[in-house]
Amino acid sequence: MNEHDSERMKGMLSGLGYAEVAERAEADLILFNTCSIRESADSRFIAHLGEAKRLKSEDPERIVGVGGCWAQSVKDEVFGRFPFVDVAFGPGQIHKLAEFLTSDSLTAQGYFEFEDFAGHLPAQRERPFQAWLQISQGCNCVCSYCIVPSTRGREQSRPSHELIAEVEALAADGVREVTLLGQNVNSYGRDLAGRGFERCTFAELLRAVDAIVGIDRIRYTSPHPKDMKEDVLAAHAECESVCEHIHLPLQSGASRILKAMRRTYDRDRYMARVAMIREHVPDAAITTDIIVGFPGETEEDFAETLEVVEEVGYDSAFTFIFSPRRGTAAAEMDGMVPHPVKVERMERLVEVVQRRARARAERFVGRPLEVLVEGPSRTDPTRLRGRSRHNK
Ligand code: 5AD
Ligand code: SF4
Repeated sequence: MNEHDSERMKGMLSGLGYAEVAERAEADLILFNTCSIRESADSRFIAHLGEAKRLKSEDPERIVGVGGCWAQSVKDEVFGRFPFVDVAFGPGQIHKLAEFLTSDSLTAQGYFEFEDFAGHLPAQRERPFQAWLQISQGCNCVCSYCIVPSTRGREQSRPSHELIAEVEALAADGVREVTLLGQNVNSYGRDLAGRGFERCTFAELLRAVDAIVGIDRIRYTSPHPKDMKEDVLAAHAECESVCEHIHLPLQSGASRILKAMRRTYDRDRYMARVAMIREHVPDAAITTDIIVGFPGETEEDFAETLEVVEEVGYDSAFTFIFSPRRGTAAAEMDGMVPHPVKVERMERLVEVVQRRARARAERFVGRPLEVLVEGPSRTDPTRLRGRSRHNK
């Protein structure tokens, strides 16, 4: 979502006549789009901000802007802590940046009330043939470790007719692959009728996007296991363009920890969803997100996570060390796991994830795969890099 928002910021800025420069020292405007999901993102950003301060002192005309979830989480405090910042705005206020840049205002400005979807702004896509599609904003879940509900607010879906029109325009512009984006994509649409729009479920949206000529690949991220129902999987299985890849965030394999995380499913329910996926889309690559070292996580709890990873056999997993976030319930919980224990668990987890992923990958040996080429390989520019439908 953060990358999507950056593409929108770039699109808006290029509409104002701005262009990217290679070095920060050459920039008239230094703009950060921040993520706050884990502390490491925050700390890296603070270091970059230090450099911006130095550059601003060299040339006071230079504008320093901070957008995104970090800005939203500290709001106007940003100007007290970092007085050289000229403009700050949250994820629902990106359009205000244009207003600020085109006004004569010399005083620092902050914009933090949700007003509009970033998806309404023009985008400058990284590759002409791939696009993000923001289907909703915000999240109504209350996962106890997560800062997102407080930075991106309550869930709001974009009306389906608007999304269909956007994808049709993208297809006409040469886009072959779209990724539907939301904090919880498969709860899409539940708020539409109440806001006076036509009803549309996530499954229906998948079918409607699939019907658009020119779009060969549809991806979506992230679904929530609680909303991974039969209708979504039926659409997934029946729509030719929907790729054989499902990201199904586990977070923990222990029901006790899942409860403390307020994930609203337990281990058995999660495994039932995996079984349902295997039944409808047998060849799907299943990937996940896992947090180790959540407060109170015992060795037994962690062993359950390892068991689930063994049983499911993920094609890959994003693994995270629990990071206490300001204002979240988990940050105040007892039983913080010592850092060395977290690191040790992480190492064991990665070993199991990789071993199972390697075994799963065997099924592709000798099988021709359709690849969408994304550009030169990062490690060897004489070769090309691309992605199969399974996201390999
Ligand atoms: N600490 C560690 N990982 C987190 N995630 C979200 N919040 C935290 C946190 N406080 C992870 C979850 C989520 C992914 C996007 O980031 O696994 O699915
Ligand atoms: Fe955060 Fe949970 Fe919402 Fe995902 S579903 S954004 S983890 S609160």
